[in-house]
Amino acid sequence: MPEQGDAVADGVAIGLILANEAETIAFSETLAAQLRAGDLILLSGPLGAGKSTVARAIVRSLVGQPDLDVPSPTFLLVLPYEGKGHLVLHADLYRIEDVREVDELGLDEDPQAIVLVEWPDRDPALATRADLFLDLRIAPEEKGRECELRVADPDRRRALSVLLEDFGNLPV
Ligand SMILES: Nc1ncnc2c1ncn2[C@@H]1O[C@H](COP(=O)(O)OP(=O)(O)OP(=O)(O)O)[C@@H](O)[C@H]1O
Ligand SMILES: [Mg+2]
Repeated sequence: MPEQGDAVADGVAIGLILANEAETIAFSETLAAQLRAGDLILLSGPLGAGKSTVARAIVRSLVGQPDLDVPSPTFLLVLPYEGKGHLVLHADLYRIEDVREVDELGLDEDPQAIVLVEWPDRDPALATRADLFLDLRIAPEEKGRECELRVADPDRRRALSVLLEDFGNLPV
């Protein structure tokens, strides 16, 4: 059974400190600009860590509509958006009880789709093919968020670590 983060575990992660929601959104917009067709992005972290905030900001960037309604797909499990040139899927696997339910969501049906997944630990196989893995943690005293971003491709990791310098970029 693959462990979560297998595909992206090697090498140095990018450490980020996001002091408030505005920083989470700014970071997400920077990341969105670097995403490529076919990317699978896993968003993990406890309840309230900011996974949906990141996904919402990325979807809005990719669609090009800053005010787009991006509800949490907690009940529908996956919601599609028309990005510029490719499909964007936002999934939330929190309610998944059987890993086979994930297959039915069709997350890998369109190889060009950019796929964002909250609660990816529900299906450990996702980690084996993830391109980016963001682990959000609530900072002590609930002030801000401390995150680790792992990037499967070392070249992309290097490029992203430069672009994300404003958000801490601590090697972890
Ligand atoms: N860097 C930050 N500092 C402080 N609060 C933040 C930060 N980023 C996001 N938040 C806030 O955290 C709260 C929870 O965010 P969000 O709903 O995105 O979490 P989630 O991880 O998706 O939770 P769930 O697992 O319940 O779906 C929101 O009120 C959001 O504004
Ligand atoms: Mg959420």
